[in-house]
Amino acid sequence: MEIKKQSRLRGEITVPGDKSVSHRAVMFGSLAEGTTRITNFLQGADCLSTIACFRQMGTEIRQAGSEILVTGKGLHGLLAPSGVLNAGNSGTTTRLMSGILAGQSFESVIDGDSSLRTRPMKRIRLPLEEMGAVLTSLDKADCLPLRIRGGNLQGIDYHSPVASAQVKSCVLLAGLYADNPTSVTEPVLSRDHTERMLRCFGADVRSEGTTARICPEPVLRAQDIIVPGDISSAAYFIAAGLLSPDSEILIRNVGINPTRDGILRVCRQMGADIELINVRNEGEPAADLLVRSSSLHGITVEGEIIPTLIDEIPMIAVMAAFAQGTTVIRDAAELKVKETDRIKTVTDALQVMGVRVTPTQDGMIIEGGLPLHGGEIDSCLDHRIAMAFAIAGTLCDGPLNIRNAECVNISYPDFYTDLYALS
Ligand code: S3P
Repeated sequence: MEIKKQSRLRGEITVPGDKSVSHRAVMFGSLAEGTTRITNFLQGADCLSTIACFRQMGTEIRQAGSEILVTGKGLHGLLAPSGVLNAGNSGTTTRLMSGILAGQSFESVIDGDSSLRTRPMKRIRLPLEEMGAVLTSLDKADCLPLRIRGGNLQGIDYHSPVASAQVKSCVLLAGLYADNPTSVTEPVLSRDHTERMLRCFGADVRSEGTTARICPEPVLRAQDIIVPGDISSAAYFIAAGLLSPDSEILIRNVGINPTRDGILRVCRQMGADIELINVRNEGEPAADLLVRSSSLHGITVEGEIIPTLIDEIPMIAVMAAFAQGTTVIRDAAELKVKETDRIKTVTDALQVMGVRVTPTQDGMIIEGGLPLHGGEIDSCLDHRIAMAFAIAGTLCDGPLNIRNAECVNISYPDFYTDLYALS
């Protein structure tokens, strides 16, 4: 896809629903008693994979206008799936669902696409096996396809070596089925959507510092879930509004959960003019964001903020290339095990565009301020690479061609339409 140059971006945009929240609403709705109504559900390929998997286990999931209705089967009502559960490209579907499957008396197998088949599953196998489940990789060690034999779980106090909401959520969900309370302690706090939403559904979940603790066997009760707009999707338009001259964009209804809002903090530290309007709380905090052109400067992004912006690092790296001075990103080795190795895919694509960038073991160093030029880059089927570089393409000299650009359907099917509607 050839990206067209754009300038003077003005107008309003409403980004689609949050991916993390949408997955969880379907999963917890499936385990609840009654019908959960989900408003502003993200109709992206990843969340549709979650719907397909839970339908395969007997959950009735219907679309009613713009809402999704999930008729729960209760904690013990899921049926053994007739075949392999296909998680597509979605790590969240795989890892959260594994925690639920570990609590079932039936055996199941999860598989996914070629990217998901390379992603590490040892991080969930170890705690789930400590709880009493048996997880077996059917191909490459500790990767999908994964067979899960569940049941008879015991509660554990798990110290996770990685700050990962997928690992934390997986263990907490298995904890619903254990004979004792389960806790998860992370090195740094990751996104807390699971803890918040499980509490709404009636689970006994307590959080203290970087530890979350769950008591087993509540009755989960169906809820009305309003999904906020996805700050990870908003990030592309935040960057576009800041970097493009003489621009002003109002991004409506963006989730600003403090475990997800690192992108706002980093942008401000780089010199961004972003105003939060109409801040509200509907289960998750949300606001409208008014973004104006700003001249940005390089900073160091490291430490506890990393998990709060991990999915936004491709966009932050592109912003850093347009900013004055040097940006250092470190403590982000998790980038290597995302949909692609994002240290490699981001730095390769920046180099094609003429940026002086050095990949490191846990991040990258970007020398900003030189003009970026067009050329041809590959998203490597990673939605966040496609979108971050589409924004770069609207700002650089000369046309930028993105191979495999259509993968934006994973999290933001209307991305290109929204982008071109802004000028
Ligand atoms: C997610 C957690 C993060 C994030 C992913 C969604 C979630 O992954 O990168 O896009 O919904 O829990 P990790 O848990 O691997 O950090």
